[in-house]
Amino acid sequence: MTSTVDSTLQVLFSREQIRHRVAELGRQIDRDYAGEKVVLVGVLKGAAIFLADLARSISVDNTFDFVAVSSYGKGHQSSGAVKLIKDLDQPIEGKNVIIVEDILDTGLTLHFLRGLLDQHQPKSLRVAALLDKPSRRLEKIEAEYVGFSIPNQFVIGYGMDFAERYRNLPDICLMPAEDS
Ligand code: IMP
Repeated sequence: MTSTVDSTLQVLFSREQIRHRVAELGRQIDRDYAGEKVVLVGVLKGAAIFLADLARSISVDNTFDFVAVSSYGKGHQSSGAVKLIKDLDQPIEGKNVIIVEDILDTGLTLHFLRGLLDQHQPKSLRVAALLDKPSRRLEKIEAEYVGFSIPNQFVIGYGMDFAERYRNLPDICLMPAEDS
């Protein structure tokens, strides 16, 4: 069966490139946490697909949890305010936690989440972001694991949306100007 991907979309990172990079991140996490257990905390909804692939690239003992925060809204601009919509299901005190996020953009979301999860006194707290847009940063925050650094471009696919659409695209694509 052929792919259902819209052929008019410009692919920024193909599914093969993503698969290769996620596998590398998995190996890096395996090395860093050898002999330890890890809790992967995915940020809904954008990170769901990344987390699913990353978790399967990791050999160290791992469990999942998910949080949800107030989203980007319907367009390109964040409101600036971040609010927790769904909290953790399990305690993370004394555990190795990796926050798994789709994009580190202004940094407002991860700055908020890192501060929040830190209050639970995990053994360690790191961030894995599939994409990083360093030029957009408003908060001083970096991810320990980054898939790809990109310029200030709006992307869709592989979990990432524009007004809730396009999350199911297997590749990471550039948002067409006429839709934005
Ligand atoms: P931040 O709080 O500005 O770092 O924003 C992080 C969130 O904004 C990400 O988790 C995404 O949900 C959303 N976001 C930022 N840039 C993009 C993009 O290019 N495409 C889709 N969502 C984006």
